[in-house]
Amino acid sequence: MRLWVDTDFGFDDLWALLLLRHYGATVEGISLVAGNTPLPQVIANALGAAEAYELGAPLHAGADKALVREVETAQEILGEKGMDSRGRFLPEVDRAQPPADAVEALAAWLMQDGRREVLALGPLTNIALLVQRFPEAAARITRLVWMGGSNGPGNHSPLAEFNALCDPEAAAIVAGAGLPLDVIDLMICRQAIFGPEDMPQTDPLTADLLGGYLDIGLKRGRAGMAIYDPVAALAMVRPSAFAFERQSLTVSTTPNETYGATRFRPDPQGLTRLPTAPLEDIARLCLDALRQEASHGLSE
Ligand code: BDR
Ligand code: CA
Repeated sequence: MRLWVDTDFGFDDLWALLLLRHYGATVEGISLVAGNTPLPQVIANALGAAEAYELGAPLHAGADKALVREVETAQEILGEKGMDSRGRFLPEVDRAQPPADAVEALAAWLMQDGRREVLALGPLTNIALLVQRFPEAAARITRLVWMGGSNGPGNHSPLAEFNALCDPEAAAIVAGAGLPLDVIDLMICRQAIFGPEDMPQTDPLTADLLGGYLDIGLKRGRAGMAIYDPVAALAMVRPSAFAFERQSLTVSTTPNETYGATRFRPDPQGLTRLPTAPLEDIARLCLDALRQEASHGLSE
């Protein structure tokens, strides 16, 4: 499988990219978007991860702010770098900055032949700009998988999930664009939980970053942490691991307590799908993929 990834490059975004590699998918381009952190830190994370994990895909910088709302980040939860750690951090790479042409580059990639699958792991700003500026290219997407939204309570406000709340206007545009959209929402991701006893054996850097990610849950008195973006990547490469239902999706752009909330309604004719249940042990699949991709240099 060949695909494009749009990401705000936190740790679980990196984990998703490693899972794609584990399943033999080729990422032909990565567009970066402000979300977990402001865009400069997203770019720094992408450059550091590309070096540490030998990610070869070309990087493109995209939107540094949401379409309408003021900047919202997750740094209060994830730390300044958008990736917490128990020790080591990604290397700080002094390399040329990626070109600031993410939406144009994605549009050009979409105009090529063959299946055109896009995995979105952050706020949908870049994808909404694509829909607005390059509708012909957007219409060529054969499958768009997005980690975002919630068919239940939120995680960044009582009603809204982080990626949706970061840019509700963008999410509303994408939801209404008539694209074949699979929404990997908070509810399905919360069925993929891992705890201290599940920590895979990996190289020291990955162990520290995964530990930092797990600590988000542990520090809040929970037994573990939900796996978000890797579950969306799994839905991309292994859709048989989920039971999907066709639903219509609307996103609240009303500036009140519903801002960014996603609403799903059964719609047998619709192009949007929501996974209603895992059919396999999706946490285990994500953890196994990480262990196998991040155990270089360790004796088996
Ligand atoms: C989403 O928010 C981000 O912090 C994660 O990377 C994931 O994409 C979960 O709400
Ligand atoms: Ca993300």
